[in-house]
Amino acid sequence: MKQTAVVTAGTAGIGLETALGLAEAGLAVTVVGRNAERGARAVERINATAPAHSARFLAADLASLDAVRVLAGRIAADGPLTVLVNNVGAMFADRQDSIDGIEATFAVNHLSPYLLTELLLPALRAGAPSRIVNVTSGAVAVAKRDFDAVEPPGGYYGFHWYGRAKLAHLAHTLELAGRLDGTGVSVLAADPGGAATDMTNGTMTDPKIVSPGLRLLWPLVRRKFERSTSGPASLAAKSSIFAATDGSLAGRTGVVIGPRAQPVVPFRAATDPRTAEAVRRLSEHLAPVAPA
Ligand SMILES: NC(=O)c1ccc[n+]([C@@H]2O[C@H](COP(=O)([O-])OP(=O)(O)OC[C@H]3O[C@@H](n4cnc5c(N)ncnc54)[C@H](OP(=O)(O)O)[C@@H]3O)[C@@H](O)[C@H]2O)c1
Repeated sequence: MKQTAVVTAGTAGIGLETALGLAEAGLAVTVVGRNAERGARAVERINATAPAHSARFLAADLASLDAVRVLAGRIAADGPLTVLVNNVGAMFADRQDSIDGIEATFAVNHLSPYLLTELLLPALRAGAPSRIVNVTSGAVAVAKRDFDAVEPPGGYYGFHWYGRAKLAHLAHTLELAGRLDGTGVSVLAADPGGAATDMTNGTMTDPKIVSPGLRLLWPLVRRKFERSTSGPASLAAKSSIFAATDGSLAGRTGVVIGPRAQPVVPFRAATDPRTAEAVRRLSEHLAPVAPA
């Protein structure tokens, strides 16, 4: 059976490097992004490596839950799916709502991959042994751990809200791994560490993204960001590629792969069942699998 992979936000940055790695491993890769020209360039780049199967681009704005539903329908129509890499992620300097009227950081980093995964579970079950790889971030460490509502109490600070949405998604990842245990669908998280990409070269240069306390130390904080995100995206993609393809992970689930492309201990707050439960409630309410 042909092995297939979908990489969201796969037309640039860490996602494109991940797609290249999966194509090299013999999977038929679909990359998802908004911009069709970028998508065509990504497909050209992947196909230039003479993969076993040609790559394909599907357009979708993953900030829109309707677009996620349409995308899932198109992918599911192809039949069994072997690998889903939920690589999409975004950080915003200013608070903004998604097209669905949901705070955009939470929508893009958690709700969108949450919904895409839920909708693709039948295809992933049909493709078992299959893997879901959710891309996480070290920013989970600076997150507020309050998931009673989409937005945490207090002011908007893009980096911290990004970390909180990534924490929600990591808690969901570990909970889903438990839920799917024994189905042949493994659920893993991959932390790329850092890389110089659109995201790190853009929003992460704006002092507004950190809390006022850290803003006072901005030159130091900025230097730390620069140091940790100066590497190439090809290196940062190794954790996702390992999670998606490495034979040593066969039959394993609920594993977090760290920046050195090796299993690491999950960030403790993400293993708290109360966090997972609060995130589940919020997700089912905001992004129902079967819309009313
Ligand atoms: N870079 C880092 O240092 C770092 C560190 C830790 C974790 N991460 C995580 O790693 C993942 C990849 O990060 P990255 O730095 O490579 O990001 P990036 O450079 O911002 O990614 C660019 C890709 O994202 C796509 N994209 C952005 N918004 C989209 C949307 N709404 N819908 C569909 N596609 C969208 C772009 O496609 P279009 O151009 O078509 O929109 C492009 O393919 C993210 O989950 C990020 O949170 C990154």
